[in-house]
Amino acid sequence: MKIGILGATGAVGRQMIQCLEEQKIETEELRLFASPRSAGKAMQFKNQELHVEPVSAERLADLDIVLGAVSAELAREYAPLIVKPSAVFIDNSKAFRLDPNVPLVIPEINGSDAKQHHGIIANPNCSTIITLMAAAPIARISPIRNLIASTYQAVSGAGINGLQELTEQTKAVLSASPVNPSVFSAQIAFNCIPWIGSEDEDGYTSEEKKMQDEGRKIMHMPNMNVTCTCVRVPVYRSHSISFSMQCEQKITVEQAKEAIRGFAGVHLVEDGYPMPIDTSNQNDVYVGRIRPDHVFEGGLTMFCCGDQIRKGAAANAVQIISCL
Ligand SMILES: NC(=O)c1ccc[n+]([C@@H]2O[C@H](COP(=O)([O-])OP(=O)(O)OC[C@H]3O[C@@H](n4cnc5c(N)ncnc54)[C@H](OP(=O)(O)O)[C@@H]3O)[C@@H](O)[C@H]2O)c1
Repeated sequence: MKIGILGATGAVGRQMIQCLEEQKIETEELRLFASPRSAGKAMQFKNQELHVEPVSAERLADLDIVLGAVSAELAREYAPLIVKPSAVFIDNSKAFRLDPNVPLVIPEINGSDAKQHHGIIANPNCSTIITLMAAAPIARISPIRNLIASTYQAVSGAGINGLQELTEQTKAVLSASPVNPSVFSAQIAFNCIPWIGSEDEDGYTSEEKKMQDEGRKIMHMPNMNVTCTCVRVPVYRSHSISFSMQCEQKITVEQAKEAIRGFAGVHLVEDGYPMPIDTSNQNDVYVGRIRPDHVFEGGLTMFCCGDQIRKGAAANAVQIISCL
């Protein structure tokens, strides 16, 4: 296959290069694209040195698969240059996720949906992927009726600039220098910001709406209700989610643990608890602290963590290639 990566110099794009190698995707040729600012920049793939190119219709023309790791605006702009009878665009942005003609895929949960594509496949929102990887094994016993989640999202979820902002602000605070937020809406060093995305009509942010809207589509559960609060925390990598869920039927803690143990890509933590520092730079989602919920009758409460650049983005997108 001839594969291209759009946004190869960013947090997700760089990780995609590594995931293509790790997942042993047969790659006849890999082409790397980014903004004109990065043209000519050298990057490593296997033992080769590849050079970043600016995007053009000609350079995209003969590729079989393009992995998208750019903004939603750019994904919409470039999609018509990519989509043709033999090419597939696997996009990480929010641009096409809710389009009824675009499969929204987590391979372990709904990998077969990928085959219904019409040229574009969307990778879901990162917190949604990590939460659903933890909830899906339980939902196989009985469909989810209600889910309440709070996220603790790492700064790298906002790309490379988010990582730099946390580092610079931490140094500034420690040296009593002024802090000037630009990527985040407030100071992120030594703080938590309960605001990710833009505001929707009913007071929820755009990031918070994704878990219900995308979750219903991925799980094929149109009646699943989700309330979500998204919080940015001063962690470099790996999103964490605390959530309570109620299924159509009562699920015991033992049933949930048994289901999670048998589900690919999810690791049950029984000794201790999942933490971002332990779950970064790997593809598995870690779930622990599973206990009966005190509000939802027959429900469960738990905590999960996963590397959102890997399973929440790059690793999931590369896995989708194997579903085609
Ligand atoms: N970070 C995460 O954890 C995460 C998780 C899930 C989904 N996503 C989504 O994945 C996408 C990429 O996110 P990211 O975090 O990797 O962002 P990022 O680190 O800011 O990287 C952005 C990439 O876009 C490239 N770019 C900018 N302008 C361009 C242009 N005109 N033409 C071509 N490429 C251009 C940049 O190239 P230059 O280096 O040349 O500027 C860079 O490679 C976004 O849609 C994001 O919402 C991110």
